[in-house]
Amino acid sequence: MLNWHDQQRSPRAPLRPESTTGLGEIDRGGRRVTVDEKAMVNCRADVNQLLPLKYKWAWEKYIAACNNHWMPTEVSMQADIALWKSRDGLTEDERRMIKRNLGFFAASESLVANNIVLAIYRHLTNPECRQYLLRQAFEEAVHTHTFQYIVESLGLEEGELFNMYREVPSITDKAAWALRHTMHLDDPSFSTGTTERDQDFLRDLVAFYVIFEGMWFYTGFAQILALGRRNKMVGIAEQYQYILRDESMHLNFGIDVINQIKVENPHLWTAAFQDELRGLLKEAADLESAYGRDTMPRGLLGLNATLCEQYMHFIANRRCAQLGLEPVFPPTENPFPWMSEAMDLKKEKNFFETRVIDYQNGGSLAWD
Ligand SMILES: [Fe+2]
Ligand SMILES: [Fe+2]
Repeated sequence: MLNWHDQQRSPRAPLRPESTTGLGEIDRGGRRVTVDEKAMVNCRADVNQLLPLKYKWAWEKYIAACNNHWMPTEVSMQADIALWKSRDGLTEDERRMIKRNLGFFAASESLVANNIVLAIYRHLTNPECRQYLLRQAFEEAVHTHTFQYIVESLGLEEGELFNMYREVPSITDKAAWALRHTMHLDDPSFSTGTTERDQDFLRDLVAFYVIFEGMWFYTGFAQILALGRRNKMVGIAEQYQYILRDESMHLNFGIDVINQIKVENPHLWTAAFQDELRGLLKEAADLESAYGRDTMPRGLLGLNATLCEQYMHFIANRRCAQLGLEPVFPPTENPFPWMSEAMDLKKEKNFFETRVIDYQNGGSLAWD
């Protein structure tokens, strides 16, 4: 049987889980890592050596994410509190939509964070990608903090909101669907290294980065930003703009990771696997349509379940294109073109005419 050092060096030896975490025994006689040895998955080179960088896009996203730092408590909630407590500032339908939207996000941010830390991090064997994951994990904590801050500011019932992912079927169905694709990766005995298990890992990346963060979050953003456009719940709308900015980067990172794994492991991207992934995107769009009908049974603020369904079809096709997959729906127009404006914070700084902070951090330390 091969010892640990031989396993590290022999190209055919199976990988042991501890050799990819960076927490195995130190290889005192090992060589320094070269760029060519670095790989997204199943890497045999030491994952504790950040440099030399191989994937500059991952490092650049880490820097960009740090420059986007924000905290929910920097956003004033005064106008939202006054509107929420007013008798007729909001319709019953608007209140239902707001509460379910907050309920969906409140637990989803934790699900996404747990998936990164407990499932993805372990198997993504590249230090610069892990650096970004650590930043993303913190951002998910900031997002969860946002929902704590909103609950506290508006005096919402915390148990109701944080249990919606278990108690409201249209939300539970989405959370349960995503969990199906991550629970076995969370098993300590799971490791990548075979075609089947590497595909399991890719499926988890698609389920969380492309579908959870890249599709489902977007209906949620559209709902709250539609309120903000009408000058309602402007504090929450501003916080959602910051979350949206973070989430578009999470999505783009996930897409880059998946595409890089494809480049390095073309044997994983079979026609059957591509069909399976397209099936997942279609299922996810159907689940989102059910959520749209549940949260907006009558339509409001220029939104309704039919337009949200069309939006999901548009987004699903766009995600397919980003992954190099054939579209899953017939060509569809974007029914909410204003969403792309809301995504560009720099361009639309005064979108809601609320206090806006330039969150460029760094460079402010004085050493004298
Ligand atoms: Fe998030
Ligand atoms: Fe995220």
